[in-house]
Amino acid sequence: QLSALHTYKGVLFSSLSSEEVLKSLDSFDAREDDVFLVSYPKSGTHWVAEVVENIPSAGITLTSPIELGDISKFEELKMHSKRRVIPTHLSYDMLPVTVKQKQCKIIYIVRNPKDTAVSLFYYYKDNPNLPSIETWAAFLELFLKGDVVYGSWFDHVLGWEEHKNDKNILFIFYEEMKKEFAKSLKKITTFLDINVSDSEMSKIAQKTSFSTMKNNAVKENCDPNHIICALTSDRNLVFRKGVVGDWINYFTPKQKTVFDELFGEKMKHSELGRCLQEYL
Ligand code: A3P
Repeated sequence: QLSALHTYKGVLFSSLSSEEVLKSLDSFDAREDDVFLVSYPKSGTHWVAEVVENIPSAGITLTSPIELGDISKFEELKMHSKRRVIPTHLSYDMLPVTVKQKQCKIIYIVRNPKDTAVSLFYYYKDNPNLPSIETWAAFLELFLKGDVVYGSWFDHVLGWEEHKNDKNILFIFYEEMKKEFAKSLKKITTFLDINVSDSEMSKIAQKTSFSTMKNNAVKENCDPNHIICALTSDRNLVFRKGVVGDWINYFTPKQKTVFDELFGEKMKHSELGRCLQEYL
């Protein structure tokens, strides 16, 4: 059954990530100039990937996710001669050891977990690689328990936040990208040491707007060279609403209370949690 998930190191993965690829992550040979694009699913990974791809003179190749596929994966990644930008939804713990040793640059994208949960609910509904969960209420329960692909949102974010002072890691918020795109873009280009003019910046903004990306997805659908999330090769599944605060249309007052209590408990010492508070 294609949509069955499997557990590896206590975390759920889709069948698109084979156990052998997960087992062999530490055999991946990182290059010093690799850039990793990391996120919990549905945090805006495709958006940031598109932004990075559209930076002129970046000289990069966006690869498919490191945890997608089988063991031939690592040979395939060796073929790229340009600077690689490698997306992944892996936890910090599972990241290949050479990436940590070589202190590769890492962009971690974070989004408020209520919108992330709603977005993931629809991904489960629409994505044939994920099991079908009948109701929002049932899905939310799984989400809060961490019984969803890539595990608990809280564990993912907190695991990465432990490394927030590492100089090679940049944290980017989905909500800030929406509100102050130029500011987020500047953070990204500065982090990658790439100069971008103001006119180039506004071109990037146009090319990576939600509507442009959604329209392009229809045209370039299923381009096997453009897979960013290890959960789908169908880009049409990705561009749903693209807004901040859609959760309000799904959470009952009771669900909000339960969520807020858990968030308060899990995130009580978290700076990222404090940054996200205004969106909850
Ligand atoms: P919604 O389901 O809330 O619409 P990921 O790329 O990590 O899978 O995240 C997908 C989410 O990012 C979806 O959220 C999608 O609509 C949103 N998204 C994708 N491209 C976007 C863009 N250019 N601007 C704003 N949101 C975008």
